[in-house]
Amino acid sequence: MSIEFHRRMLADHVRLDAFRAALEQTIRPGESTVADIGAGTGILAFLARAAGAREVWLYDPGPVLMLAETIAARNGIDGLHFVPESSLAVAAPPCVDVVVAEVLGNFAYEEGVLETLSDAQRFLKPDGVLIPRSIEQWAAPVTSDRFERDFAIWEQADPHLDLRDAATCSRNNMYVHAIEPYDLANVAAQRWDALDFAGEYSGNRAGDAQFRMPAADRIYGFALWWECALVPGVVLSTSPHAPRTHWDQIYLPLAQPLEIEPGDEVLLTIASETGGAEPGIEVRWTAAHRRGSRSLSTQTLDIGTGDIG
Ligand SMILES: C[S@@+](CC[C@H](N)C(=O)[O-])C[C@H]1O[C@@H](n2cnc3c(N)ncnc32)[C@H](O)[C@@H]1O
Repeated sequence: MSIEFHRRMLADHVRLDAFRAALEQTIRPGESTVADIGAGTGILAFLARAAGAREVWLYDPGPVLMLAETIAARNGIDGLHFVPESSLAVAAPPCVDVVVAEVLGNFAYEEGVLETLSDAQRFLKPDGVLIPRSIEQWAAPVTSDRFERDFAIWEQADPHLDLRDAATCSRNNMYVHAIEPYDLANVAAQRWDALDFAGEYSGNRAGDAQFRMPAADRIYGFALWWECALVPGVVLSTSPHAPRTHWDQIYLPLAQPLEIEPGDEVLLTIASETGGAEPGIEVRWTAAHRRGSRSLSTQTLDIGTGDIG
């Protein structure tokens, strides 16, 4: 993981302001102990100390933790314990009042947030607080064609070559784009998943979102975003309607656009899997298009098909 990844996260003031507010709301100055899981440059641990945390444990298996230690020394920040390990590998962690873990990906789940937060409950005292607390996943149809232009390359690369098989691979992927409200269909976004990080859950998630389309349109794909409650009243959102973050949004393409008539129904089903033997995520999505009682089309895409190694 390069320093550029951390630079982009530290440049994201929406993200930092939300975590700072959550820590300030939760930490009892001079009393609370904190675990920063996935500490990276140590920024959340430093914010926790600034908010009055008595002691902070920083967990990260990456070499960036040495940089965190150097930054702490240069800034005279004490009360820190550096643990260069994945939290999942720590056998008997000291129990703390607050666990903070920022391991959220663009899709939310691809950086191991489900596995890390489910396991992080071991690090908490019985009445301890987990930050973040819960998440909702949202979807909306995309009617702008501007993300489709990237796929046109497969038709334009060479007039003598039929590259449709490569184009199919390309569409079976999820893309990070800055999606604007004007890219979305004029229909309410729908929630396709929700979970409480302090509950019980697995890395297999599935849900659906149903849209009744009010007007004739053409749907090219779907926008996904998440809304994560760090603590009650502090929500970090990657919605196209919210201030922009470094996560932007996810674009899920379709194999074929949907030609929509007023009143048509579109059912989007999404399934994702993390926590397997291999790192990373599997995502599949199905779009079913109905007009009244008639099924017009069903298409399923899968990033496993798009992953050609
Ligand atoms: C998104 S970065 C966040 C870094 C820092 N907390 C911040 O807010 O800028 C996630 C970091 O978590 C680390 N990480 C991911 N899962 C972890 C786990 N289970 N235990 C410890 N570190 C983890 C990664 O190595 C990476 O440095």
